[in-house]
Amino acid sequence: MVNAHKDFNTAPLDPALEQEVKSIVDDLSLTEKVKMLSGHGFFEKFFGEENRQFGQRAYPAGSGNERHDIPSLYFCDGPRGARHKRNTTCFPVTMARGATWDRDIERRVGEAIAIEARALGASISGAVCINLLRHPAWGRAQETYGEDPVHLGEMGAALTEGLQTHNIIATAKHFAVNSIENSRFKVDVRVTDRALHEVYLPHFKRVLMSGCASVMSAYNKINGDYCAHSVPLLRNILKEQWGFRGFVHSDWVKGCYGADAVTAGLDVEMPEGIFYGSNLEGAVERGEVDEAHVDEAVTRILRTQFTFARADDPRTYSEEDLACEAHIQLSREVAGKSFVLLKNDGLLPLDRDKAQTIAVIGKLAAEVNLGDRGSSSVNPPYAVTILDGLKSAAGPDTQIVFDDGSDPARMIECAKAADVVIAIVGYTWEDEGEFIPGNEALEGLDPDKQMPSRGGDRSFLNLLKSDEDMIAELSDANDRLLVGVMSGSAVIMESWRNKPAAIMMTWYPGMEGGNAFASAIFGDINPEGRLPFTIPTDADHLPFFDAEADDIKYGLYHGYTLLEKSGQRAAFPFGFGLGYTEFTYGDIRATKGDKLPTFEIDVTNTGDKPGTETVQFYIGFGESLIDRPVKLLRGFEKLFLRPGETKTVAFSVTHQDLAYYDETSRSWQVEPVGHTAHIGANCEDALTRTVRFETEPADDS
Ligand code: BGC
Repeated sequence: MVNAHKDFNTAPLDPALEQEVKSIVDDLSLTEKVKMLSGHGFFEKFFGEENRQFGQRAYPAGSGNERHDIPSLYFCDGPRGARHKRNTTCFPVTMARGATWDRDIERRVGEAIAIEARALGASISGAVCINLLRHPAWGRAQETYGEDPVHLGEMGAALTEGLQTHNIIATAKHFAVNSIENSRFKVDVRVTDRALHEVYLPHFKRVLMSGCASVMSAYNKINGDYCAHSVPLLRNILKEQWGFRGFVHSDWVKGCYGADAVTAGLDVEMPEGIFYGSNLEGAVERGEVDEAHVDEAVTRILRTQFTFARADDPRTYSEEDLACEAHIQLSREVAGKSFVLLKNDGLLPLDRDKAQTIAVIGKLAAEVNLGDRGSSSVNPPYAVTILDGLKSAAGPDTQIVFDDGSDPARMIECAKAADVVIAIVGYTWEDEGEFIPGNEALEGLDPDKQMPSRGGDRSFLNLLKSDEDMIAELSDANDRLLVGVMSGSAVIMESWRNKPAAIMMTWYPGMEGGNAFASAIFGDINPEGRLPFTIPTDADHLPFFDAEADDIKYGLYHGYTLLEKSGQRAAFPFGFGLGYTEFTYGDIRATKGDKLPTFEIDVTNTGDKPGTETVQFYIGFGESLIDRPVKLLRGFEKLFLRPGETKTVAFSVTHQDLAYYDETSRSWQVEPVGHTAHIGANCEDALTRTVRFETEPADDS
């Protein structure tokens, strides 16, 4: 029986296991216990034989005691695939997978990552990254799923379930309010209790309630304390209020600053015991840290480790699982579901069997562009570029020509001579990604081992000037132009979005991205991705962002909630995406439940091709007596419909869906006012269908 450990944080503790762990803890010396609270051997390998090439293997990550025959835990990053020097499957980046809005495929991705991680000897994974995309400039935007807490929580829970099905301990990271990269080691995020509970934490809670058994604390500070030292965050909210049963590990190297972190609730310092180890032992001996906190940390680690290591597992894991055919096909399938068609003035799909010339323009079309080169990057055995994908999918009478765009006159000739032009624009790991400090940022490194800093927050939200110029020239040369945008989050497109006939977000699409792209272009699959964030018309419509900030305030509004509150229209709203067919929505029907209604709607495929629609359910707060968003996403379902087919989808409401966090009573409250239900194809469309409903007093909040 497969067990995804879904009740890990909610089922009653197993008394026999707790007793066994207690007797081990009672038998261990302080030195032995403290040794279990950190990784070991990282620096020796990293600065030695690995020549500072991070991610070569699974790293020891806490636990381990020879006398009791307890092995160490082994950690393997991360959200894009199992990270290792061995070749593994490279999936589309998390943001692309967020655009699928597809829980089922994300669970299958989690399973594949876990199977490969197990084959590499790991017991804990560096996925699941669920930081909220507050601003599109965030360098690591591509590692998370999007801007909305409900959507983030659902997708993160699906990945967790997949990972833990194979007894890999999932990691919810980076806890919390981690969404600026360049200043991640110092920035102090000032956030009210209300914004924290309503906007920045619900997805973490959702993922933990789906059984996620470990948490990685973030580098940044929250309200004055580093996250690994934050009593309110780790001790009070995570462990006491939410009842989290697993363990917390620090982000790496600069994630912990003293032995007192164990008191706050940090159980494991990674990757080595710099502030734990002998320093923590001394602090306990001097009475500065209560040994009971050390005991608690060991208890949490062993409880988690034993639960996962002893669970039934119907399969074995071997080298043959690494980048195996099934996982590669899954990578292609998920990429195909992730593309978001933003505009299509009748250009797509292309007929592959026509006699035609397709000009593919832009150097990114012919480059392997898998995303950032930080901790989430993986090492696939090969990767299919957009150009290669198009070449292998095109019919015998289609000629594919390529121009990298470096010579505008030549490029224009090429575009003029073609029947269709596909321009691939966007970013690479140099423009956005995890900030990895190089020699200039790290003192005392061997000058023979030069390593430049890389990644970081994006310094602009438009495309590069050269890309924008290229689009303008190409659209003048040929009106059958498709622009494919490679990026990890929103790109402001105002200066050019009216020019091309079609626009598609391709993201960093993984090792099979080129093949999946060609399938979408030639109509073998119907684009079904939906934006997991808002694309604004102007950067001024976004919240304040400063990549170098020492401190910054996070409030209730960002993304669609901010645009709606300030009355701005998006260029492309949250949840938006087109396909090759049409869907028509009926009226919302309310059926009275016990205390709260359920809402139903009929959706019909009124086009002539099969397709998948993502039906989105929002609750509106227009009658609220306090400051609240116009509306919030509260559910979504994907429907596959053949031409002419109608399906009904239903959404129920809980009191928690209506509640706000009251800072005075420190509790969730439902206002005694009417609310509205909205269902639609995206955040803007949903506002065209509204049903008001009354709330009876809560007893389930
Ligand atoms: C990143 C984490 C990652 C860790 C180990 C850190 O720099 O912030 O996301 O899991 O490295 O690779």
